[in-house]
Amino acid sequence: MNIFCDEVLRMEKKYFIKTFGCQMNVYDSHRMAKLLEEMGLKETIDQNDADVVVFNTCHIREKAAEKVFSDLGRAYLIKQERELLGKDTIIGVTGCVVQAEDKEIMKRAPYVDFALGPLRYFRLKEVVQSIFDKRDAKLLDTEFSAVSKFDYLPENKSEGGCSYLAIQEGCNNFCTYCVVPYTRGVEVSRPIEEVLREARRLVETGSLELNLLGQNVNSYHGEDKNGKERNLAYLLNKIAEIDGLERIRYTTSYPADVDDDLIDCHRNLKKLMPYLHLPIQSGSNDVLKRMNRRHTKDEYLRVVDRLKEANPDIGMSSDFIVGFPGESDKDFQDTLDVVNRVKYIQAFSFKYSRRPGTPASIMDNQIEEKIKKERLQVLQDLLFDYQLKFNKQSVGKVMPVLFETKGRHNGQLTGRTPYMQNLYAKADKNLINKIVSVKVTGASTNSLKGEVI
Ligand code: 5AD
Ligand code: SF4
Repeated sequence: MNIFCDEVLRMEKKYFIKTFGCQMNVYDSHRMAKLLEEMGLKETIDQNDADVVVFNTCHIREKAAEKVFSDLGRAYLIKQERELLGKDTIIGVTGCVVQAEDKEIMKRAPYVDFALGPLRYFRLKEVVQSIFDKRDAKLLDTEFSAVSKFDYLPENKSEGGCSYLAIQEGCNNFCTYCVVPYTRGVEVSRPIEEVLREARRLVETGSLELNLLGQNVNSYHGEDKNGKERNLAYLLNKIAEIDGLERIRYTTSYPADVDDDLIDCHRNLKKLMPYLHLPIQSGSNDVLKRMNRRHTKDEYLRVVDRLKEANPDIGMSSDFIVGFPGESDKDFQDTLDVVNRVKYIQAFSFKYSRRPGTPASIMDNQIEEKIKKERLQVLQDLLFDYQLKFNKQSVGKVMPVLFETKGRHNGQLTGRTPYMQNLYAKADKNLINKIVSVKVTGASTNSLKGEVI
């Protein structure tokens, strides 16, 4: 046993991870937590109490990236206070901000002990160990290496009824507003057998629902045992064969990559949930072109129609960006028209944020903040109307709900319906991580209320 582990066992060292951004970051944070636990560290939700603090960061919009620097400032204050009590604190940063702003981090937050890019966090144990061993070591690693981090991570285990499973990483689409291809690199699909192994393990250890993750998940093309490239539909069919698995989701999809096989999955696979997050970003063909999206408004709507033909119960979700450079009132109206046509049951909408290094950041006709704000408000009001309407239609229905955690009030649990609606109900805590029939008794924009039957 090494020195650090000895020390950990004696002193019960603790770690604290704060996650920003997308589900891929949530998945990565779980994996990092496991690595630290293998070293003997225990989780704490109190940052003041943590010997190792990790910020797993997001660079997608300016606000998220800036938040990291204010959190780092606070972490430094805590580190100094702990020092007075004779306690060391290791501060680490991981994720997309590291990839995009490595020098900036080291300049603005020189007290950071290590910074690992999103493809490099498999080195976490070795890095923390080396910093504990010689207190002056600092480490920055943002390599875009050919090795897959998945080859270096320990076996993943379920943490509850619902688990994320990364099947692909990176993106080749280069939408002109987006940093992901620069921070997560080119698209890489994990081999079929590797994904199936992880899927089976997650189910054996308690997962009833798997959410397959990728930045552009439906362009998945992992190799099978014989070296043949297989698509997402093939993988979904294989995963659906796993006994004990009840629900499958996948996210995030790119409209131009929805193929016939995938539409057939929505027709035939009972385990595939009737909910799909399929971002259009804008309803204007001019804007879509300048965003470098490989689809028009009509092509997108055709995909939605085909999905609805395959499964009339399917509920759609999307991401929207308002105030992209050059967006006119008419362009914005085109976006509202799409919302009225598709009637999304849930959606995420953002003001365009200028990201350094992306083509859109240097386009002419940047939209002023005031207009972005107004358009976002109009769009969100419309989206929330449809979301509330859909939620209200659920009242009186009996739905299978996968309970995930305790609710805000005593004796309450919260979980998800097949449509990803958040539902809370009075229920015994032994129903956590179980799928239970619940009668919906109330609805608001963001949640449902129900009674276990
Ligand atoms: N500004 C605003 N929103 C963005 N997104 C990605 N890049 C930007 C940006 N520069 C949004 C897109 C994407 C979601 C994850 O974040 O809608 O689908
Ligand atoms: Fe970014 Fe576009 Fe790739 Fe999505 S598809 S990760 S928005 S570049």
